Amino acid sequence: MTELNAAKAGTFAIGGDLEVNRLGFGAMRVTGDGIWGDPADPEEARRTLRRLPELNINFIDTAEAYGPFTSELMLAEVLAPYKNGLTVATKGGNTRAGPNDWRPVGRAGVLIQGVKLSLRHLKLEQLPLWQLHRIDPDTPREEQFSTMAEMQKEGLVRHLGLSEVSVADIEEASKYFKVATVQNHYNLTKRDSEDVLEYCEKNGIGFIPWFPLAGGELAKSDQGFAEIVKKHDASPSQIALAWVLKRSKVMLPIPGTGKVKHLEENVAAADIELSDEDFKTLDAIGRKA
Ligand SMILES: NC(=O)c1ccc[n+]([C@@H]2O[C@H](COP(=O)([O-])OP(=O)(O)OC[C@H]3O[C@@H](n4cnc5c(N)ncnc54)[C@H](OP(=O)(O)O)[C@@H]3O)[C@@H](O)[C@H]2O)c1
Repeated sequence: MTELNAAKAGTFAIGGDLEVNRLGFGAMRVTGDGIWGDPADPEEARRTLRRLPELNINFIDTAEAYGPFTSELMLAEVLAPYKNGLTVATKGGNTRAGPNDWRPVGRAGVLIQGVKLSLRHLKLEQLPLWQLHRIDPDTPREEQFSTMAEMQKEGLVRHLGLSEVSVADIEEASKYFKVATVQNHYNLTKRDSEDVLEYCEKNGIGFIPWFPLAGGELAKSDQGFAEIVKKHDASPSQIALAWVLKRSKVMLPIPGTGKVKHLEENVAAADIELSDEDFKTLDAIGRKA
């Protein structure tokens, strides 16, 4: 069997100076139903996290809201002090009122408390990448963006990013700080953010597609690209990930799972070289879906 190694997907330098392997991991799934509380099988979730450095995955996405706190605390328990350049990026500004209940709050006090709690929970002195989980429509943007800039000046966070934003949002935030990453809903069949991706490519901003497997849908075998799956002796999830990786050099997919078997299956996507023809075929299938 070929050696599983996320580095085969190539690297990207977040903010120009924080190099990570492009194929990362999303740590939202090491929580309970509705992304609330503990996972059904905490030991399997721990085993999954422990496997990450062995597979050379050194870019992990989490958020204080996952649990809340469950994901960050488990990452720290299993992986701190994050050796060999292991980068844990987190997010704040999205409060939780129960399972599947997400409420953005961007008041300065909430963002500052969020960063300080993430530092404590992740056992870090500085967060390598902190992203505003959602821009809060009920709080002035000036307050949200200037608080982020201030926390960066204070050294609490190294790089800053945004999530679920438009090109206009990125341009507005860029007046306050350098936007290092953007995290939007994007995958083979969900393409609304093509303009944002193109903007990120032009400006050297890392683009983190969340739901790269459409929440598991793209791991199923009836996706309309069975021929390509067969040709590469691959699984549908591997082809969906290989496609996003080929789509852009600034793409940092973070497939999520709480299972070692799925993690290993997904990381093998780094071995798949899609031809330009396969890429175009998948692109057309994805746009039609
Ligand atoms: N910025 C945002 O607003 C935002 C929103 C959502 C997510 N995110 C981030 O993006 C990451 C990825 O999103 P996601 O985890 O929701 O969705 P995803 O990566 O598209 O899919 C994950 C789902 O697919 C299943 N799965 C994963 N690999 C599989 C495989 N090889 N075969 C079969 N099923 C598989 C997982 O279940 P199992 O656990 O059973 O494997 C899980 O239910 C999250 O972990 C989180 O870090 C960010």
